[in-house]
Amino acid sequence: MNIILLGPPGSGKGTQAEYICAEYSIPQLSTGDMLRSAVKSGTELGEKTKAIMAKGDLVPDDIILGLVKDRLGDSDCQNGCLFDGFPRTVPQAEGLRGIGIVIDAVVELKVPESTVVDRISGRRTHLPSGRIYHESFNPPKVEGRDDITGEELVQRPDDREDVIRERLNVYLSQTAPLIDFYRGSDCEYLELEGTGIASDIANQIHTFLKKVV
Ligand code: AP5
Repeated sequence: MNIILLGPPGSGKGTQAEYICAEYSIPQLSTGDMLRSAVKSGTELGEKTKAIMAKGDLVPDDIILGLVKDRLGDSDCQNGCLFDGFPRTVPQAEGLRGIGIVIDAVVELKVPESTVVDRISGRRTHLPSGRIYHESFNPPKVEGRDDITGEELVQRPDDREDVIRERLNVYLSQTAPLIDFYRGSDCEYLELEGTGIASDIANQIHTFLKKVV
């Protein structure tokens, strides 16, 4: 099963991805996590994309499509994937379709701008795994430390308020057109308020996905 989580920054895509991947035993394909890992390792890709990400702009489609195609060749992706933060533009969605990936379901998370800013400014991330916390809404057991490994949590460089606003603008201009793209396609589509308790949202997504599988 191939599922896309669509929504603005901070809408809870990464948070919901953890629930869905555990339930359906499919890998999370987060282009944001892949890019952050490349930046952290100092690879050529990381060097090319670091400044773009720090400004809140989108990495060019050809780079992203190359990254995703490589990842889809891995054996754990053969039964499907949860796409988190990809596709982000209509050309990316067309590129995915062009390599024969059929999307079964799209879940769109909607949240108001003020919620996005509150959530992102308090977010702390475990970079090696992509696990996500929030200082108030989902704190780690030990402040500043990942629950599983005990390693340090960090604040992403693009989680500053001015960059968050730019990322929201980019979402509206370049990613929101995917709403019509997928609503007009054969896949199942769920639009959901992303402002409740995370586990309640996960239950609503689960109820929807049960009908799709
Ligand atoms: P990416 O990493 O994909 O970031 P994003 O889409 O902006 O989304 P976020 O990770 O900020 O938020 P989220 O929706 O996952 O929310 P989360 O669950 O963390 O992309 C980063 C950058 O990489 C882009 O700007 C771009 O430069 C580049 N990039 C990536 N993919 C690309 C692509 N395909 N094409 C081109 N460029 C690309 O939740 C946020 C916070 O809220 C957390 O602290 C969480 O604990 C908390 N929270 C979540 N749910 C709830 C809830 N229900 N109640 C209370 N708190 C909650």
